[in-house]
Amino acid sequence: MNKSLKTFLKAAFPGQYELLRDGYIHRKRLQRKREEYEKCRLPERACHLHGLFIRHDGGVYPCCLIWNDPDMRIGHINDPDIYEKIAVFQEQCYCKNYKLRKTFPGEKASYELLNIEVSLACQGKCVMCCVGAPDWHGEYNYYDEVTRILERCKPERIVIQGGEVLIQKKTLEWLHKTRKRFSTEFSLVTNGNAGMEMIDVVEDLFDEVCVSIVGFEPETYRKTMGMEMSATIRFCEELAKRGKVRVYPKYLMTPTGIHESDLFLNWAISTGFKTVFLAEADIISYLNMETPDQFWQKIIDRTGQDVRAMLIKNRNKMMEKRVVIDCESAVTGLFGITDEFIAKNGLEGIVVRSERGMGIVKVTGLG
Ligand SMILES: C[S@@+](CC[C@H](N)C(=O)[O-])C[C@H]1O[C@@H](n2cnc3c(N)ncnc32)[C@H](O)[C@@H]1O
Ligand code: SF4
Ligand code: SF4
Repeated sequence: MNKSLKTFLKAAFPGQYELLRDGYIHRKRLQRKREEYEKCRLPERACHLHGLFIRHDGGVYPCCLIWNDPDMRIGHINDPDIYEKIAVFQEQCYCKNYKLRKTFPGEKASYELLNIEVSLACQGKCVMCCVGAPDWHGEYNYYDEVTRILERCKPERIVIQGGEVLIQKKTLEWLHKTRKRFSTEFSLVTNGNAGMEMIDVVEDLFDEVCVSIVGFEPETYRKTMGMEMSATIRFCEELAKRGKVRVYPKYLMTPTGIHESDLFLNWAISTGFKTVFLAEADIISYLNMETPDQFWQKIIDRTGQDVRAMLIKNRNKMMEKRVVIDCESAVTGLFGITDEFIAKNGLEGIVVRSERGMGIVKVTGLG
C-alpha cells in the first residue's frame, strides 16, 4: 500500500483502520479474520519451519498459498536477521490443511519444501497470469541469496518456478551449478512450451516437472496463453515416453477452457501420466451465474457430466496403472465429484481432493 493512501485512510476514517505490517486493514475485516482463525480446528503447525516460498522480489513467505498477502510476508531474503524473523514468525492464517501457529520453544525447523520463484520473464502471454509475467520488465538477481538459504535450510525438495524457467538463460546456468550441490529433489513448474532441445536440459536438472495447460483446443490455448499448444503436447509426450523425469500435467480451468476439461483428461489418461492435476483460476469470479438462461451453470453441469463419465470409463485403466487425479476442492465442487460419486464408482485413491498440487499459486491471500 502506498504512503499517501495510508495517510488518507488514517485521516478520513480515524480509528477504523489498523496498521498491520505493510498496510492498513479495516477493523471489521480484521475482527472477522481473527474470529475465523480462533474457530478453526485444523491441525496446528509452524508452517514457516516446514516450508518457505521465496518470491521473485526476495520476499519470504511460509508457503505458496499466501504469497500475495502482505500480512504473511516474513521478511526479505537480504534481511540480516531473516532467520530470526522466520523463527519468531506469528500470524493468524489457516487453509484447508493447517492452522498456522507460532514456533514452540526449542522447536527445530525441518524443511520439506522450498519453493523458489525466480525471474518473471516468460514467453507466455496468459490472460489470467497471477504473477503478471506478461507485463513484467524487471531484472532478477537473487541467485546467491537463494543458494545460501538452500544451504542453510537443506530442504527435502526444491520447487522452481517463474515466469518461465526454460527460457531464462541465467536461471538455467544457476540451476546447472546448484543441482550438483544438493542431493535433494528438484521440481519445475513450467508451461512446457519448449523445443525438443530442452528435453535433455530438463532431464539433467529436474526429478519432476509440472506442466501447466490452460485450454485444450489449439485456438483456446493460443487465445488464452498466447502460444501454440502443439509444442507443449509434443514436449510432455516426449518427456513421458523417455520416462527419466516424472511429468505431471496440470489443467488450469478458466472460462474459455472449462468445457475442454474432459478433452484434457482423456489425453492425460491415455498418454499415461501417473499424476494429473485439475485446478481452477477462481473461475466463478469471472462468470455471471445469474443470467435468466443459467448459461454458465449449464456449461459447468454438462462438463461435469463428461468429466465424471470419463473417470468412470477409465477407472480400471487408472487403477491398474496407479494413476491419481488430484483435484482442487473447488474443481470437485464445480463438477459434482462428491464423496458419494467417488465411493459409488470405486474411485477412492484414484480421484483425490487436495489443495497442495505442485505449483499451485493462488491469486489472493487467504483470510
Ligand atoms: C505463475 S505460473 C509460473 C510457471 C509457469 N510459467 C507455468 O505457467 O506453469 C505458476 C502456476 O500458476 C498458475 N496460475 C497462473 N495464473 C493463475 C491464476 N490466475 N489462478 C490460479 N493459478 C494460476 C499456472 O497455471 C502455474 O501452474
Ligand atoms: S496457508 Fe496453510 S500452509 Fe500456508 S501458512 Fe497458512 S496455514 Fe500454513
Ligand atoms: S506461462 Fe506461466 S508465468 Fe507465463 S504468463 Fe502463463 S501463467 Fe504466467
